[in-house]
Amino acid sequence: MKGQSSRILLLLAFLSASLTGGDSCYEPMDSDPYLYFSHKTAYQLIFNSKFKPVPYCRPTFVWMFIRSGTSYPNTNESLAIRQLHQFKDRVIKNHEERRNGNLCRHVLDSLKRWEFEVNPTSEDDISPQGRMDMQLLARRTKDKMSEVLVKEINKNTFKIYASEDRKVMNSAEEFSKTMFGDDFRYKVPIEKVQSNSSFIGLESCPKWTDAIQNSEASLFRKSPEYMDMVSQISKRLGFLENITDSIVQAMYESCRYNKALVIESYPAWCGLFTRQELQLLEYYEDLDYYYKYGYGSEINTKVGCPIAKELMGYLSAVAKNDSDRPSAVFRFGSSAGLLTTLLALEVAKDPVPLTHYNYHAQYRRQWRMSQVDPFSGNFAAVFYKCDQGDEENKVMFYLNEGVYDYPGCNVGLCSWKFIENKFRHYLRPDGCNDEVCRDRSRASGVRSAVWVVALIPIALAYLRV
Ligand SMILES: *[C@@H]1O[C@H](CO)[C@@H](O)[C@H](O)[C@H]1NC(C)=O
Ligand SMILES: *[C@@H]1O[C@H](CO)[C@@H](O)[C@H](O)[C@H]1NC(C)=O
Ligand SMILES: *[C@@H]1O[C@H](CO)[C@@H](O)[C@H](O)[C@H]1NC(C)=O
Ligand SMILES: *[C@@H]1O[C@H](CO)[C@@H](O)[C@H](O)[C@H]1NC(C)=O
Repeated sequence: MKGQSSRILLLLAFLSASLTGGDSCYEPMDSDPYLYFSHKTAYQLIFNSKFKPVPYCRPTFVWMFIRSGTSYPNTNESLAIRQLHQFKDRVIKNHEERRNGNLCRHVLDSLKRWEFEVNPTSEDDISPQGRMDMQLLARRTKDKMSEVLVKEINKNTFKIYASEDRKVMNSAEEFSKTMFGDDFRYKVPIEKVQSNSSFIGLESCPKWTDAIQNSEASLFRKSPEYMDMVSQISKRLGFLENITDSIVQAMYESCRYNKALVIESYPAWCGLFTRQELQLLEYYEDLDYYYKYGYGSEINTKVGCPIAKELMGYLSAVAKNDSDRPSAVFRFGSSAGLLTTLLALEVAKDPVPLTHYNYHAQYRRQWRMSQVDPFSGNFAAVFYKCDQGDEENKVMFYLNEGVYDYPGCNVGLCSWKFIENKFRHYLRPDGCNDEVCRDRSRASGVRSAVWVVALIPIALAYLRV
């Protein structure tokens, strides 16, 4: 609704400008900027802050997968963003010397002031905002789940796992400090999940690389709609030729990093895109992840198996009143780790796949990375024991702290029997021994098929995203 009214305003502004015959210049609609930047969305903008206890039920076990907090751009991204300093000068020249370009004076001025520097030692590390996200997330979790988290703190009652990636490890530390106190290390050490040589096989997994190469996302970048966007932006910035697609991508990258790193700001580069353009770029990113880490490639759906198996193991221990289990388990990883976990549990699954040609039909997609996999994105499973109602054992899933309305459950509250039945296969001893990497379509045995069992699934979690 808000979006619609701002679109009408935009239209009115446009009409009045053309009616008065003046040179209408371009400026962003500041009243309601579009801030959903796919998997680089600021957590503050999307997390669900409302929490209601479940009546007649008490939480008895918490399991969480948490993506690392807002990070600085990695080396490649920094390089791309740094190029924009030169590009910015060209845009200014277009306006001031060549008298081309449509940006309003104050938009150009804010572009002039734009600068970007990341200390090379901080590249791809967690930022102060990311640390704050982790502290706040830990505090809220502690408040909401106090009944579970009051237990004596030791390495049997709580588990913390993190992959070796620096930003992941730093996120885990920041979260744990708030959750367990500054001296948490002596009580609950962070267990490193090693990314050793067994995991490197993934890039040589034919199915996975095919999925990346045949990417729908690159087709989308060649679609008339996308190319038209590039051409519109080029004109707006005062170029007679079309600027390259990689410059547009760098502008978008700068926009979303600047926003996520300084949450109160409205970054200069964001202001050069229209709302519709930001939505198109968002779809491109969502589409890219749909095939890289999402339902778009069958192999990905198997990758999260060991994590789902672990979760199911804990939940069934709680159901059996097994006292020899931790109260809470916190896993820290990358986007890929979070997403493949969600895949294994069939979360955020759309009935129709995302493709390069169904952008408009996917307007209400579940696979919206800004809502599913923002910076600090997280997924929790909470086991409830209930005094009233049909069943004692219930499970509730939370996505970015909001109740996830799981299909087949009652406004998010699932009967344990339903969950147990649905994911019973993970509990079998051979539950994850699928030959994840074997390419059946080339099964005639020409090549030695790549057989990777059990371990490969965890591998995606260590890829840097
Ligand atoms: C950086 O870019 C190079 C060349 O495009 C690529 O080979 C490399 O994998 C990239 N590194 C990261 C961390 O993305
Ligand atoms: C790699 O790490 C996994 C889990 O951390 C471990 O089970 C496996 O033995 C390790 N493999 C090698 C070759 O070190
Ligand atoms: C820019 O791209 C648009 C859309 O693809 C195309 O129609 C137009 O001819 C291009 N302009 C120039 C100057 O190449
Ligand atoms: C678990 O404990 C509850 C109450 O303490 C009891 O009602 C229930 O039957 C027990 N379940 C199992 C599987 O032992």
